[in-house]
Amino acid sequence: MQHDYATFTHSANVAFYAGILAAELGYDTDDVQKITTAGLLHDLGKLKINQRILRTPRKLTSEEFEIIKSHPTLGFEQLAFREDLCEGQLMMVYQHHERLDGGGYPVGVVDSEIHPWAKICAVVDVYEALTSFRPYRSPMPKEKVFEIMRRESGKSFDPELLACWIRITNKIWDN
Ligand SMILES: [Fe+2]
Repeated sequence: MQHDYATFTHSANVAFYAGILAAELGYDTDDVQKITTAGLLHDLGKLKINQRILRTPRKLTSEEFEIIKSHPTLGFEQLAFREDLCEGQLMMVYQHHERLDGGGYPVGVVDSEIHPWAKICAVVDVYEALTSFRPYRSPMPKEKVFEIMRRESGKSFDPELLACWIRITNKIWDN
């Protein structure tokens, strides 16, 4: 992914985190591998989005944000006909920006309509984004990230998945 190096490192981290969370939740090895692979692919649609928009160091305009919001659909369309990917993996790509309360994108579906694997991706995606360096801000400390994410528990994130992820990170990266 020469196109945008930040997206590549983000995707590698999301894949790693999604696999850890899935294993902790009790998914079998086969599913953990599938979830990890889909974590690598979740932002694939960003390859079709202009680098200037992806790399901008300032806040996005509403027009630019509308373009960014197309990346789950673009990624899904690119992968939908692949026979080596299962439905859960495609849903991770398509639904990772959906929210339980229906305020997400691209569709605005609610809790019961969001695939469980997409809910895993949503938690670790935001965690990775907030704990990483961005052109416009430094990485946030873990505790601050969890404070922000806890406020979104039950609104954006599945409460059980978020609680499980907080438990794991506190156990593994105890600093
Ligand atoms: Fe994304």
